[in-house]
Amino acid sequence: MKSLIGVAILFMLLAIANAQDTKTQVNNPWFTEGIKMLEEKLNYKPIKKAGNSVILFIGDGMSLTTVTAARIYQGQRDGKSGEEGQLSWEHYPHTGLAKTYNIDYQVPDSAGTATAYLCGVKTNKGLVGVTEKAKRGNCPSAKGTDVYSILTLAQKAGLSVGVVSTARITHATPAVTYAHTPEREWEGSVPAEVASEGCIDVAQQYINYQREHGGVNVMLGGGRRYFMSESQSDVEYSDLKGRRKDGKNLLDEWKKLNLPNSHYIWNTSAFNAVDPMKTDYLFGLFEYGHMQYEVNRNKGPGGEPSIAEMTRKAIQILRRNPKGYFLMVEAGRIDHGHHEGSAYRALVETVAMADAVDVANKMTNPNETLVVVTADHGHTMSMGGYQKRGNPIFGLTDDLDIYGNKYLTLNYANGPGGWDERKPRPRLTNEMTKDPHFLQQAVAKLVKETHDGTDVAVYAKGPFAHLYAGVWEQSFVVQPMMKALCLDASKPGQQHCKNSAGGIAPAAMLTLVMALFVTFFQNF
Ligand SMILES: *[C@@H]1O[C@H](CO)[C@@H](O)[C@H](O)[C@H]1NC(C)=O
Ligand SMILES: *[C@@H]1O[C@H](CO)[C@@H](O)[C@H](O)[C@H]1NC(C)=O
Ligand SMILES: [Zn+2]
Repeated sequence: MKSLIGVAILFMLLAIANAQDTKTQVNNPWFTEGIKMLEEKLNYKPIKKAGNSVILFIGDGMSLTTVTAARIYQGQRDGKSGEEGQLSWEHYPHTGLAKTYNIDYQVPDSAGTATAYLCGVKTNKGLVGVTEKAKRGNCPSAKGTDVYSILTLAQKAGLSVGVVSTARITHATPAVTYAHTPEREWEGSVPAEVASEGCIDVAQQYINYQREHGGVNVMLGGGRRYFMSESQSDVEYSDLKGRRKDGKNLLDEWKKLNLPNSHYIWNTSAFNAVDPMKTDYLFGLFEYGHMQYEVNRNKGPGGEPSIAEMTRKAIQILRRNPKGYFLMVEAGRIDHGHHEGSAYRALVETVAMADAVDVANKMTNPNETLVVVTADHGHTMSMGGYQKRGNPIFGLTDDLDIYGNKYLTLNYANGPGGWDERKPRPRLTNEMTKDPHFLQQAVAKLVKETHDGTDVAVYAKGPFAHLYAGVWEQSFVVQPMMKALCLDASKPGQQHCKNSAGGIAPAAMLTLVMALFVTFFQNF
């Protein structure tokens, strides 16, 4: 009897233990999702052979905080809580972190960082495609310090190349793809003494590049003013004149190059009319300066294509080259939104870039195209607490500061949102934060908010994307891209894992030669 009771108790205990088992996390959706992802990762095979194309997306100034806040903004815009959302690159299988500092500055600028991730060498702040041996603004010091970008190396190897930017195409980030200068500000002219020393402005370098290298196939962005003389009126805004002091009309110079199947365009209707199947060279300057913010994209009389539309057209043109292509797409105005202290503008620009990445995802084969999404540097925007899930991302937290005042979720460390320090922090209401012109508050009042010095995330999928793991110098970012395109900076003009005729491997070539040799001798 006693033993029976003992057995019964044992069974009861086991039953309780089992009941407790089923109460644990095994059926919890977070846990089952985790298991699903674990299985995906266990079955995942990295692509360890070269592809034929690379697309690099640069969210200018897209800090990790910007990515998180943009994800929430995107969800809330679509009527969701937001936090659980996903931007179009967040499912990529590989991520790493890049250290962004310039050789001479702790917090970097876009010129030095672009030289790192496009040319593979860190350099000083303000330098475009030259090493740190060049001193900023000093032309003679830059002699012999040029470094090739991956765009130039791809082009020399016979690939098609393109750049899409929402900034001026002569601005730091796009400039590094084709130009070399010790001063990023020399976009449309150089001081007279510098000209006599032999340095030329970035816009002129672009035209020269077209002449010398056979041409960038697709260049879409803003910045007509540096391609027009001071006496020339702008085509879209007749009250605005060009900024070139040398009297040149570079748009005419470009047309006179007579590149085959080429079009220069400046408005949406002309952009829409471009047939990518019949176009080898497309040059589009859709604004006098930077392109409009996405929030007022169709403000100008000529209209503007979105970054997603430009990306689609660029891929359609570039992919016609059987040897492949390199494309860089820059969301240049995330940075400008932040500099203005406007989280709203920065986040709308980020979501617009996510739409462009979505286009690339849909148009490319992950076995063939390495897609890399990253930023050049961060910004000082922070995301503080505490507020309930789903709280408006531009709104106030649920808490009060020690003086009993409301404060924001998103704040800047510095910038235009600062206040007169003789007065208390301005009082805020949720109503105020809904205004698209609202500026987030900032600790130090500056005319322009600054970059920050934190690492940026790198997201990648496709050939050699698995190499983007860990924490490295930003100059590493170009290496897997070079690998995916079989490029070697020491052998410009060649693709080391394909022969120049377009994809026949050296081994296959050798077999062919031997076969011919044997046939030749058999005939004797
Ligand atoms: C767009 O540009 C083309 C070519 O310059 C021009 O003919 C056309 O009128 C422009 N359209 C608009 C709406 O400005
Ligand atoms: C990519 O390659 C793998 C392995 O060869 C293949 O199973 C898969 O179907 C390919 N994917 C596409 C989209 O072509
Ligand atoms: Zn930047």
